[in-house]
Amino acid sequence: MNASATSVTQLALLHQADVVLMHNYAPAPLVLTHGKAATVWDISGKAYLDFTAGIAVNTLGHAHPAILQAISTQAQQLMHVSNLYATQPCIELATKLTYLGGFSKALFCNSGAEANEAAIKLARKWAKHHKHATATELVVFGNAFHGRTVGALSLTPKDSYQVPFAPLMPHVKVGVFNQIEGLNTLITENTAMVMVEPIQGEGGVNVASRQFLQALRQRCDETNTILWFDEVQCGMGRTGSLFAFEQVEEIHPDGVSLAKGLGGGFPIGAILTTEKLSDTFQPGDHGTTFGGNPLACAVALAVLNELTQPVFWANVRDCGKLLQEGLVQLRVDFPQLVTDVRGVGLMQGLALAEGKLAVGNLVTHARNAGLLLVGAGGNTVRLIPPLVVTPAEIHQALGVLRSILVDA
Ligand SMILES: Cc1ncc(COP(=O)(O)O)c(C=O)c1O
Repeated sequence: MNASATSVTQLALLHQADVVLMHNYAPAPLVLTHGKAATVWDISGKAYLDFTAGIAVNTLGHAHPAILQAISTQAQQLMHVSNLYATQPCIELATKLTYLGGFSKALFCNSGAEANEAAIKLARKWAKHHKHATATELVVFGNAFHGRTVGALSLTPKDSYQVPFAPLMPHVKVGVFNQIEGLNTLITENTAMVMVEPIQGEGGVNVASRQFLQALRQRCDETNTILWFDEVQCGMGRTGSLFAFEQVEEIHPDGVSLAKGLGGGFPIGAILTTEKLSDTFQPGDHGTTFGGNPLACAVALAVLNELTQPVFWANVRDCGKLLQEGLVQLRVDFPQLVTDVRGVGLMQGLALAEGKLAVGNLVTHARNAGLLLVGAGGNTVRLIPPLVVTPAEIHQALGVLRSILVDA
């Protein structure tokens, strides 16, 4: 097909998408067909540098041979049997993840929201037994994002997300992210669980301070409350260590939620818990038909095997540093347009001056120039490339951003 024929095809497909798909998203006006490493192509053959990575999902980029091999091998053996039966990939993945994170048990599911739903149920049941019958409160923080299902949405304190679907789950208290003052009244004998993202993603790439996380750990210990880290977005290597909490020495949560990067593009979620929570769920308490299926677990194992190579971490750290330094330079060069640079490793946010340059406009200009980006809260644009991104690609992305800022 020639270029104009393919763009006609693209327009026709986009029109059909508009007709048949619900409008809960406003997707970019292109139809993607294939990808390799950090590049994706649309149906007209145009290439894009993918600094969205399926919203922090494609840890190994697109079409990574280890993932393709795992899918092919496992699909020929066993794809799904339900949790009525054990399978080797599921057992092996649980063994590796718990060992690497210092946890004792894993529970698999299919997404980040589902992982957080499991955390809510687990915490409520645990607190009823280990605190008291009405220790049902859940504490989260401003700008948190914990998912879109009703329980997880109740922990996502943003009016535009919550109000149309009210009433939501009660007994949720919202604290101020990174504010230590007031934690004693926020977290009490009535709190079952505190859930926090070590780095908020959707909320604007806000990094929790070491002091804040330490204060949370201390207050949770004082009140016998579960401290839960939602690492759905910031986990699985994005910060330069497998778990984001490893960046903050000596703070270990009682549980952690994972999804997104865990399967490198194949849907899978998980919670990992310490010994304290190990026996809380008993048969009948919680379930999922697909969670922990051998195909998803085999892919996650392949991803994990790549992520645990030392050479891998060196790339994440080097490219993360390069990206952050480049963004800081943009802030220095364009102080009227760029107000802040926040992030760790390959999870970076560029905050733009309100009223000067809208995130949506920057994302559109970048896409036209062949760079895929995604916005976040606080007029921030997120840079969350695959972890296999190269230094040359980081320079390329920074070059696109610079040219947009020059013209703005
Ligand atoms: C920190 C965090 N938790 C939970 C979720 C929900 O994950 P999912 O979209 O897989 O349900 C997200 C998604 O962006 C997230 O960033």
